[in-house]
Amino acid sequence: MNKTQLPIGIFDSGLGGLTVLKALQRALPKESFIYVGDTAHVPYGNKSLEAIIIYSKRIAKFLINQKVKLIIIACNTSSALALKALKQTFDLPILDVITPVQKIISLKSTPIKIGVIGTHNTIASGAYRKAIKPKNKKIQIFEQACPLFVPIIEEGLQNDSIASLAVKKYLTPLINKNIQLLILGCTHYPLIKETIQRNIPKKIQIVDSANSMAEYLTNYLNKTRLLSHIKRKKDRIIITDHSDNFHNFTNKILDRNDINIEILKLT
Ligand code: DGL
Repeated sequence: MNKTQLPIGIFDSGLGGLTVLKALQRALPKESFIYVGDTAHVPYGNKSLEAIIIYSKRIAKFLINQKVKLIIIACNTSSALALKALKQTFDLPILDVITPVQKIISLKSTPIKIGVIGTHNTIASGAYRKAIKPKNKKIQIFEQACPLFVPIIEEGLQNDSIASLAVKKYLTPLINKNIQLLILGCTHYPLIKETIQRNIPKKIQIVDSANSMAEYLTNYLNKTRLLSHIKRKKDRIIITDHSDNFHNFTNKILDRNDINIEILKLT
């Protein structure tokens, strides 16, 4: 089979990567996707490096067995911690969600103060700082872990007052630094974006992994001649353990009501 017609593999620890999938489905309607949400191991944000590498490799191996043409790590934590190990192990294109954001920032010419929020692991890795700073030394970066956001989102409480309290707690130090741009360095966070927007000054621009990846992948597929011209297969959504909220969330995020979710124990 012609490589262009193969599906694209995409994974996250849970439902966060669905925000990336949604943006990709919109931007690239002729591509087919196989999404894996590692609900057996969510959250990745406070797991050990070893664990994240093992889980990420297991999913990548599964996706490769499904004959995908490339893999997107739709998880900032795994992108920050496991990308190198995955690239060393597997011989197919593997794209992370940090590079597309770095590319967007590199197009901004004026010196700028940037806030980055993410899981404990992503922030501790300094992945965004390391990606952005060498390209523009004048940029000032302020980082903040927001460990309560993922459980709040996975519980469906992103519009609740508890979410506003968490947003205020985590973002006030960044607002006090007068940031001009905020990077949502976790693919779950577009789901709490409205609450964030309500609680920060309007002039702060927000950049997220989902829209950045859609733009980046479109260019990448064109450049590498991997772009599909006809949608061959229905997208598949797979989770690694039963999850109460996943079905409702998937329908809501992907704006559908006919989605079949497969449960697959990966070993
Ligand atoms: N959505 C993921 C990320 O982008 C991981 C969240 C988690 O599992 O802690 O970092």
